[in-house]
Amino acid sequence: MIDRQALLRAATVARQQAYAPYSGFGVGAALQGGDGIIYTGCNVENASYGLTCCAERAALFAAVANGVHTFDAIAIVGGEVGEEATVSCPPCGACRQVLAEFCKDDFPVILTGGDTTLGELLPQAFRLKPR
Ligand code: THU
Repeated sequence: MIDRQALLRAATVARQQAYAPYSGFGVGAALQGGDGIIYTGCNVENASYGLTCCAERAALFAAVANGVHTFDAIAIVGGEVGEEATVSCPPCGACRQVLAEFCKDDFPVILTGGDTTLGELLPQAFRLKPR
């Protein structure tokens, strides 16, 4: 079962830990694993800007580090640090591709501005068959 509000709440709590001193934009993500556990992440920026890790990838990598490879949904919230996350925050292109490694086209992406699916956000994702 996907509890949309619970996932949005978990993403909002994770966003409080965002380390975003350069952009001032904090993001939180909550990913529901096939094991029923919610894995969360926040964006972590770096003085070498390109090394920044998005909240979505932080959440996904935390889940994989716990042996979880199947997922039911992700919720993402973002906005100016210190303000409510009122703007819709769809995942960046890199995070869409990383989600596509583990999630099918019908994977639900829960956003404050309206829910969507990974297939809508990333049609014709590049996929390879694992050896
Ligand atoms: N960011 C995310 O965490 N997820 C996204 O999908 C888009 C962007 C972060 C990266 C950077 O720390 C800040 O938001 C502004 O780009």
